[in-house]
Amino acid sequence: MNITVIGAGYVGLVTGACFAELGNHVTCVDVNESKIANLKKGILPIYEPGLEPMVISNMNEGRLQFVSSMSEIAADSHVIFIAVGTPSDKDGAADIQYVLEAARNIGAHISQYCVVVDKSTVPVGMADQVDNVIREELQKRGLSLRFDVVSNPEFLREGAAIEDFMRPDRVIIGLESNNAKSIMLDLYLPILRSPERIYFMNVKDAEMTKYAANAMLATRISFMNEMSVLCERMGVDIENVRIGIGSDTRIGSAFLNPGCGYGGSCFPKDVRALVKMAERNGVAPYILHAVEKRNFEQKRVLPDKIVNVFGEDLTGVTLGVWGLSFKPGTDDMREASSLVLIEEAIRRGACVQAYDPAAVGVAGRILPSEWMDSGKLKLTGHQYDALKDADALVLVTEWKPFCYPDMTAMKNLMRQFIIFDGRNQYDPKHIRAAGFEYYGMGRGEVNYKRAALSLREAVGAE
Ligand SMILES: NC(=O)c1ccc[n+]([C@@H]2O[C@H](COP(=O)([O-])OP(=O)(O)OC[C@H]3O[C@@H](n4cnc5c(N)ncnc54)[C@H](O)[C@@H]3O)[C@@H](O)[C@H]2O)c1
Repeated sequence: MNITVIGAGYVGLVTGACFAELGNHVTCVDVNESKIANLKKGILPIYEPGLEPMVISNMNEGRLQFVSSMSEIAADSHVIFIAVGTPSDKDGAADIQYVLEAARNIGAHISQYCVVVDKSTVPVGMADQVDNVIREELQKRGLSLRFDVVSNPEFLREGAAIEDFMRPDRVIIGLESNNAKSIMLDLYLPILRSPERIYFMNVKDAEMTKYAANAMLATRISFMNEMSVLCERMGVDIENVRIGIGSDTRIGSAFLNPGCGYGGSCFPKDVRALVKMAERNGVAPYILHAVEKRNFEQKRVLPDKIVNVFGEDLTGVTLGVWGLSFKPGTDDMREASSLVLIEEAIRRGACVQAYDPAAVGVAGRILPSEWMDSGKLKLTGHQYDALKDADALVLVTEWKPFCYPDMTAMKNLMRQFIIFDGRNQYDPKHIRAAGFEYYGMGRGEVNYKRAALSLREAVGAE
């Protein structure tokens, strides 16, 4: 099949590469010319495990190409995916301008029947708008071509995107036309092998399914985060509670990990967009508001713990931060908890030394250069370099190499032996037995005084 993918970001690039890997001819088009120039040279704009070799081998096989303008694409696409960004606008609703621009370009260039697939996460009713825009553009060209608009929301997880794309739990497809249905079946059967896990429904139902799924996952996280705060106050270990409730088959264990807040390019903006959809339709989104509020507060729990240990003024304190991306396996730092932590620590006078296995390059581009110029923020090339003369380790993202740290090496490097574990990665007993103070998220014990005293001794304060 000839496939065009509009937008070569996390979703578009993975979609394009995976469909090319399955033998299709794929053209990815992106308005970002430098991104396309790099992709043509085999340089990827994102870190995603396994993606680079897949892109390069499919380019070499002639099944995958990159262009920066729709006018360059073969007009004989059977399927055109829209995979452009839908960030929050200033009110929190999904900004649909890039989707509409993509639709205009489709209408301006198609020359035969094709299926237009909304893969971007778009508000309910968007497919109708896309349909109208394409129709208007075709009218301008004096054409009355047939086409169908389908909703096929994407559920891949950054960090496991190829695995999720090639072996999805399910594929959701919203459509109204039999012709489109048979094309979408042809496209997805090589991935799913049997049609049972393809759920066909109306277009609007599919559009809403994506928002409801993300909002449900965000709700579970915020619920557990709220429980963790309560557990901490009441001397309860949230980790035992998590295991206890996760073993209830009615609840299940997925998405129950408490931590220092969710981030990324999806949950925060999709919850905000769903809030707007609810409000615009006269529904009070009580639960969604609470999910957002808890997440906002949760990103401030780690900075608060640090202040509780070292005091309001963090001048003279050096924090070694492990993890910058919003989750392991990606370099994506959109709305990452690390951003709140680092900004708050530097605002209070601390120096931050941060390491991430994939996101150091992104951090260097998006964080204020004056932090780096003034020495307030140092991005390091190794996880242990971030701990040199540090007063504490702050674990923000649970990358695998952080799971079993070398405590002896850490003690040789650090000025004080304190760990703030924003993802409950460590067993408090082991950490304390190794001579470190340990502060997790909702682990039921708080002991701030000794660390504060030891810092004052270390810096010779009164
Ligand atoms: N990132 C994820 O994990 C994920 C998962 C599921 C769904 N989604 C959804 O998929 C969509 C894309 O997300 P993403 O993370 O890949 O975004 P992204 O920001 O990584 O990539 C979007 C790309 O679209 C390009 N673009 C914008 N306007 C364009 C146009 N008119 N023509 C061609 N290219 C254009 C941009 O230059 C950019 O490269 C969003 O709606 C998102 O909510 C994302």
